[in-house]
Amino acid sequence: GAAAGNGGVASVGDIVHEGLRNLEYRGYDSAGVALVGETSGLTVAKRSGEVDNLTVPDVPDATIGVGHTRWSTHGPPTDANAHPHTDCAGDVAVVHNGIVENHEALKRELADHEFTSDTDTEVIPHLIEEELAAQRGEGDLLNAVRAVEVRLEGSYAICAVREGEDEIVVARRGSPLVLGRDDDATFVASDVTAFLEHTRDVTYLEDGDVAALSADGVEIYADGDLVDRGVETVTWEADAAEKGGYEHYMRKEIHEQPEALRQTIAGRLDVDGGDVDLDVSFPPGFLADLEEIQIVACGTSNYAGRYAAQLFEELSGVRATVEIASEYEFGAGRSPDRTLVVAVTQSGETADTLGAVRRANAAGARTFAVTNTLGSTVTREVDDTAFIRAGPEIGVAATKTFASQVATLTMLAVAIGRERGALGAADARPVLEGLRDLPGAVQQVLDAEPKVREAATEYGDSEAFFFVGRQLGVPVALEGALKLKEISYDHAEGFAAGELKHGPLALVTPDTPVLAVLTDGARADETMNNVTEAQTRGAPAIGCVSAGEEYGTLDVSLPVPDVGLVEPLVANVYLQLFAYHVANDKDRSIDKPRNLAKSVTVE
Ligand code: G6P
Repeated sequence: GAAAGNGGVASVGDIVHEGLRNLEYRGYDSAGVALVGETSGLTVAKRSGEVDNLTVPDVPDATIGVGHTRWSTHGPPTDANAHPHTDCAGDVAVVHNGIVENHEALKRELADHEFTSDTDTEVIPHLIEEELAAQRGEGDLLNAVRAVEVRLEGSYAICAVREGEDEIVVARRGSPLVLGRDDDATFVASDVTAFLEHTRDVTYLEDGDVAALSADGVEIYADGDLVDRGVETVTWEADAAEKGGYEHYMRKEIHEQPEALRQTIAGRLDVDGGDVDLDVSFPPGFLADLEEIQIVACGTSNYAGRYAAQLFEELSGVRATVEIASEYEFGAGRSPDRTLVVAVTQSGETADTLGAVRRANAAGARTFAVTNTLGSTVTREVDDTAFIRAGPEIGVAATKTFASQVATLTMLAVAIGRERGALGAADARPVLEGLRDLPGAVQQVLDAEPKVREAATEYGDSEAFFFVGRQLGVPVALEGALKLKEISYDHAEGFAAGELKHGPLALVTPDTPVLAVLTDGARADETMNNVTEAQTRGAPAIGCVSAGEEYGTLDVSLPVPDVGLVEPLVANVYLQLFAYHVANDKDRSIDKPRNLAKSVTVE
């Protein structure tokens, strides 16, 4: 959030602070502000913790302010890692949302600059400082940001301020930025909620735009030319705006999956080279001798683990098992020094999962966390961590974190397979192409939402729901059933399609729809045989089917774009939408289902 004003009733510092409070749902592990005044110069204050932990300094002459509330992706939530970040001289301050993928290479070029944080962001003020020095006093912040912006790779939105200049310079590529105007001030933020109490007249920036904001207005540049992006009037109320115009966080988060997945894979895939860089290193010889990977997790994270276990075996050539964290013991006959225990937990705080990690550590195994939360307890207890970078998830029912967990674990499986020599570059490449294409494939499913909504309305009042799949379709069937029961309170069960005939078939009637994963990686033809067995008993059948394939007898067929081993993960997005619309038709408490909590910190 940022504001440039002529100073009205509220001080610039107060306006920015209030804007950060409005944005707190986007991230809340640290907060900071930078204020610029004509005589006071640049004042920066930042600290870890919630926005209310931050004392915004009283700078009466400030006419410019930027602020930031952080959801960590690089570097734990400490005071030093909080934004704004500054240059060596302390003249330039920058806040940033997104990931600068080439930050390591850029940092190497800045060898004579002193860095004070572990963030990718900090390279930006230092690059601006270099650029201003190169322009020898002729330069200004706008030109410097324009020169720096083209050197950044990744997705980002940045706001920069400089002592002695009465402008905020902003740039956007891949991460949202919206501008607002009222009579005596100009605003910019990641989300209109930040400044909705000041103005509803907004301008959305486009990728590649750089803009200079002052109290008098805005100049927007694209490819060096001044452009007019038009003004729209926001009609949402603040509460709806916080949910991006959606009625529930869950639906917003379902729709955020392409963006979340882009963040998950950003800078980590080398598709041509057939490799992955998760920025973790195992001790020499550890992977070569690795005998077993044990995954421990609860709930949805456990299903992400089940998906991954199959990929670990296929891509890493290592035996992989999955356990419910609360059941986990380091069993007899296993060799701790040849075992990797992977804890999957979006919050990083689930007591059952932490208990499993502690038992694994006590047995002497190497431990690894896959989590969404920097600085969480699990990251302090394991040997290594990979972050899924899905951004904050507020709906109790996990959606985007599941997708990002599976994508991260898939990359881990490739990384381990490559390093052990179990997976050649040529075999890794199609998996990586699937990951690269995943955000776009999920978007196609989201675009087909009306079709799922229709199916939800038609079948939502059934007595029970059965979800089936084989192989990678099994965890997705389990997850599909879990989503539905969590938020609709309907009876739903997921199982391996082959098991239908070994018991559950007794429950099948015309009032129990069967939802099936019929994609690559899920033995679609055999699964369809089991679906037919249920249809013979009168059950309606809804199938998520690989694009180009066809099962003419399905009652509803939902096409899944071709992305190989991650196709079942894309099919899962249909099941999330199905659960959502069934629950919404019944007017359930979707974001906070009865009896459930987002993070369960008791065993
Ligand atoms: C709770 C939540 C679930 C979640 C599980 C594991 O039960 O309601 O949605 O899957 O915890 O959470 P974690 O943070 O460890 O992934």
